[in-house]
Amino acid sequence: MTAVPENEYYLLGRNSVETQRLDEQHNFLTDLCGGSLISKSISEDKIFSIADVATGTGVWLRDVKAHLDSTHPTGPSKPRYYHGFDLSDAQYPTNQGLDGINYSLHDCLKPFPVEHHNRYDLVHVRLLVAAIKETEFKLIVANLKPLLKRGGYLQWEDLDLKSFLTSHEPKYDSFPTIQTLRLCIETQIGYDASPHVPETVADAARENGFADVIHILYNTKDRPEMAEQVLNWVSKVMAPLLRAILGRTGRAKNEEDLQAHTQSHLDGLRTSFERGLAPNGAMGMVIARKE
Ligand SMILES: C[S@@+](CC[C@H](N)C(=O)[O-])C[C@H]1O[C@@H](n2cnc3c(N)ncnc32)[C@H](O)[C@@H]1O
Repeated sequence: MTAVPENEYYLLGRNSVETQRLDEQHNFLTDLCGGSLISKSISEDKIFSIADVATGTGVWLRDVKAHLDSTHPTGPSKPRYYHGFDLSDAQYPTNQGLDGINYSLHDCLKPFPVEHHNRYDLVHVRLLVAAIKETEFKLIVANLKPLLKRGGYLQWEDLDLKSFLTSHEPKYDSFPTIQTLRLCIETQIGYDASPHVPETVADAARENGFADVIHILYNTKDRPEMAEQVLNWVSKVMAPLLRAILGRTGRAKNEEDLQAHTQSHLDGLRTSFERGLAPNGAMGMVIARKE
């Protein structure tokens, strides 16, 4: 396993619980974003090489491969090429290389190796919200562009942080959950995270000369049938996020204190949910084409 910088900005960690959480939330996020792994505005029959940047456990790539293998089989003479990049290999699958997917280490704040240039029909990114500062998105999009062939697509899904600060009814605004969400979100923004990542990515794509930039927001409040899953998703991500934020802001003096504070926030969340608060928030998808 390769060491990542000791003082890295990424908030969520990479232990086995977090690996399981990323894998579990994948289907939920796909459903929330309209049910398609690849945007319907991209013709899947023209996609032969795919990169997933900040791939984490590679769950999106594995699912895309299974999907394209079944819907658009290519045959052994022209196999599709799949490549996952991440700053760390701690969450890469243990059967790496045996499932037809390639993985390598790369910090997307740095230019990608030339052997990957002009190689991909689709470059995908999902959830860098807790890892990247607002000012860095333009540089990342500039680093991603050379990976694409002409006519290739960038597809990026990420969270709009500020959308989580609203509830479905004003009476819930004073609930402890909203205070907990405010602590998590305002602390991240205070650490220079982008308050509206999808909008920031769309602007970065336009500034980097991409064409046909589309930006769609998928809001949990528009999906009442997913309420139970939204609640489960928010509860699961809050545990590692709260630990990181309470630890980094010095609100907890030691491990015991950290556990107690985290638990008290999580109890507040559960109580608010039991009293009817439905967590709100938006995931945005940005599509852009390289001319
Ligand atoms: C929340 S996870 C998302 C993983 C995956 N995209 C998904 O949707 O399941 C964020 C990932 O970004 C990676 N990451 C953070 N900073 C990075 C950087 N500068 N370059 C490449 N990957 C990075 C982390 O290691 C982590 O795997």
